[in-house]
Amino acid sequence: MTVLGLESSCDETAAAVLRRHGDGRVEVLSDIVLGQEAAHAPFGGVVPEIAARAHAEAIDGLAREALSQAGMTLADMDGIAATSGPGLIGGVMAALMTAKGLALGAGKPLIAVNHLEGHALSPRLVEPLDFPWLLLLVSGGHTQLISVEDFGRYRRLGSTLDDAAGEAFDKSAKVMGLGFPGGPAVERAAQTGNASRFDLPEPLQRRAGCDFSFAGLKTAVRETWDSIPEPDDQDKADLAAAAQSAIAAHLARRTERAMESFAEAFPHLARPMPLVVAGGVAANSEVRAALKSAAERQGFRLIHPPSKWCTDNAAMIALAGAEHLARGETDALDAPARARWPLDADAATLSPIIGAGRKGPKA
Ligand code: KG4
Ligand code: ZN
Repeated sequence: MTVLGLESSCDETAAAVLRRHGDGRVEVLSDIVLGQEAAHAPFGGVVPEIAARAHAEAIDGLAREALSQAGMTLADMDGIAATSGPGLIGGVMAALMTAKGLALGAGKPLIAVNHLEGHALSPRLVEPLDFPWLLLLVSGGHTQLISVEDFGRYRRLGSTLDDAAGEAFDKSAKVMGLGFPGGPAVERAAQTGNASRFDLPEPLQRRAGCDFSFAGLKTAVRETWDSIPEPDDQDKADLAAAAQSAIAAHLARRTERAMESFAEAFPHLARPMPLVVAGGVAANSEVRAALKSAAERQGFRLIHPPSKWCTDNAAMIALAGAEHLARGETDALDAPARARWPLDADAATLSPIIGAGRKGPKA
């Protein structure tokens, strides 16, 4: 089964061709991602209207290129998959409408994919990992802990109440004038910093469960910065180091709780159990180190897909599309673009706070 996947829900335009074999093995035949960092850098964050226009200009060319790199044409495809949410709505529409046009023109089925399901299944792009696994998704748009129990069975254990972890890095970097995207800039600055000079508050210390919160940290970084009369490079380095370790510690502590409840839900699963970490923030070495020690304490092994599949990409969308198609699940041409689309509808109903999502395009 061969599927063309398209993605444009945040600030990466992407197209990929993937083949799924009958035994579930997958081959990525082409995989192209076009970033928009330069377009957003002057604003210190993703500007939805700029993103949507850039996606609309690039997506059909990328689709053509992905087919050509795979040595195929539309006629060779068994289906066309596109992210149909959650994400920045103007962006989501670019890939979805293109996929609808291609599906209609070529007489192929359309698969409208939940972007989060793509991330949830992404470790399968690398190895035929058996269900279940625990996923920590940490990027500029998402911060979620998902128990991936089977295909189509996802349980959200935790989610951010406000900002995404990547936003905490990006906003801290902005306060200190370190540049965009903030994560790598904070990590660089932190290398020469002393993380214990500033005492940043640990979020949600008294709140049970696995939810995250980064808004308080962001404010603490700004207030600390404002309290330094004439900040120099050492002040920057120290505050960057403090912010980075506070974010890493918070991610690791809440993930440790999720590992406990995952282990309770699957008492007979062989140890070490899989903890998959995906998203741009997973590139941070302190975040990874904190997660690795938490995983070892809890009898888990940390799996980190290569960064091209851990950040936004179309191979994971083609994979989710192929899995649906293999089960005969396709979508009508009026499938809507959705700004919000929780992977775990039960969690959304039970907890209106995480269900609606308060901030961040995909939080
Ligand atoms: O998954 P991703 O590339 O894209 C979307 O969110 O769509 O994640 C980007 C986020 C940004 O917030 C960026 O600052 C953060 O990941 N990031 C990092 C690092 N590299 C990227 N954060 C911390 N340390 C890094 N080395
Ligand atoms: Zn994503």
